[in-house]
Amino acid sequence: MEKILVLDFGGQYDLLIARRVREHGVYAEIFPYNRITVEEIREGGYRGIIFTGGPNSVYDESSPHYDRKILELGIPVLGICYGHQLIAWMAGGEIKSAGNISEYGKTEVTAKSCELFCGIPERSICWMSHTDYVSGLPDGFEVTAVTENCPCAAMADRKRRIYGVQFHPEVTHTEYGGTVLSNFLFRVCGCTGDWKMDDFIEKTVEKYRRELQGKKVLCALSGGVDSSVAAVLMHRAVGENLTCVFVDHGLLRKHEGAQVVRVFRDRFSMKLVRVNAEDRFLGKLAGVTDPEKKRKIIGEEFIRVFEDESRELGKMDYLVQGTIYPDVIESGKGDASTIKSHHNVGGLPSVMDFEGIVEPLRDLFKDEVRQVGLKLGIPEYLVRRQPFPGPGLGVRIIGEITKEKADTLREADAIFREELEKAGVASSQYFAVLTDTRSVGVMGDARTYGYTVALRAVTTDDFMTADWTRIPYEVLERASGRITNEVRTINRVVYDITSKPPATVEWE
Ligand code: XMP
Repeated sequence: MEKILVLDFGGQYDLLIARRVREHGVYAEIFPYNRITVEEIREGGYRGIIFTGGPNSVYDESSPHYDRKILELGIPVLGICYGHQLIAWMAGGEIKSAGNISEYGKTEVTAKSCELFCGIPERSICWMSHTDYVSGLPDGFEVTAVTENCPCAAMADRKRRIYGVQFHPEVTHTEYGGTVLSNFLFRVCGCTGDWKMDDFIEKTVEKYRRELQGKKVLCALSGGVDSSVAAVLMHRAVGENLTCVFVDHGLLRKHEGAQVVRVFRDRFSMKLVRVNAEDRFLGKLAGVTDPEKKRKIIGEEFIRVFEDESRELGKMDYLVQGTIYPDVIESGKGDASTIKSHHNVGGLPSVMDFEGIVEPLRDLFKDEVRQVGLKLGIPEYLVRRQPFPGPGLGVRIIGEITKEKADTLREADAIFREELEKAGVASSQYFAVLTDTRSVGVMGDARTYGYTVALRAVTTDDFMTADWTRIPYEVLERASGRITNEVRTINRVVYDITSKPPATVEWE
């Protein structure tokens, strides 16, 4: 398989670069610069290497640097932004700070003829974000692009196939960024673009069919996209030897449990155990109001239920997890500020006795997981489903969780989602939250004292930051009207207009 290595120097676009490469049908792997040696790269069979950007200055001792031998491997290299400066620095060039004339944003670039700029007009718009610049060219390099303020917006050592661009070809603001990357992949590295989802399915199924012959495999199915796709993929590989356990903690959305059973048991004929653990979970949660405590209780109880179930099922050899590539990268970086500890059913493997963990999706991005899901025949509404947190409605009921509150929220949430979908409002995630506030209202001639429900809808690419969705007033009006009419215990509806940051997407 053709592979490109994305060597990460701390930039914010490492995932984006890898995605862009994969969009061209070439498999890309990200490694933080300090997690892979030059020998491993030599052995890794990479067709090309891309150095990412990063926030540092190469002349600072403490900045991320790399073994200069990487430039002698004979593997083509493309450096982007900090990566471009790093190449110049490693090859003996000079870097300076531009002081107060740093370039930021859309900038006109003038490119010379060079294989990297094939098919690109002489002048075009690129996205710049830098203060430092390459002020002295290393031996063997020539300048291949300039901007008004940057004398070396791109450089090349064509003999050694080493290239650097000061701008960001991976962002859409760079008009011909896609062409720059495809030129690097196909013209420079000689890739053919043979990374396809059909091949992925075939190869993965074949691999696990061989490796897991005769083994019993267990999968915790949440009904979310990742675990659903992982389960169906593994079912293709090991068939009857796969057992899925679906824990209903009583904090699912309306009809969710039944849907999961219908799809996986009825349609795919998979062995599926549905555990109705509502009483267990609500029992443990009784009287608890602290958000972190609630999360912890739900997480731990999940493991206990899962353990009990698997004891019933007898010895299982492998556990399937729906880990995807961004999860792998996030935890691999070891930066506490970026690790999302709340994701997936964390902790399961350490408390149970498995021969191993199977993570069939660990090389895929979310959109690739969706493509695989569709190709496997999983219904579109499941594959395109918005994210739903593991603790479910537990993080959307403020204060103590009770069955009455969960039922109330389930109804309001279903109405809101239905109205938004009917109106075709585009939003990345949308749901209702049951606040802990009650307020006075009037219905008919009677005074009411009901719950306040908050509606939340956000628009985002990555859920790290998010904006609130501009829902048309009429849609909000319909949702509010229906909720207060149809859900007896709610007499007030508010819409959350806070972005992330400062708020988070979920309320708890
Ligand atoms: P926050 O609230 O952190 O949410 O802005 C960002 C995204 O993560 C989801 N989320 C979770 N997912 N377990 C999950 O599997 C959790 O405990 C959890 N908490 C938040 C949230 O729904 C949003 O998509």
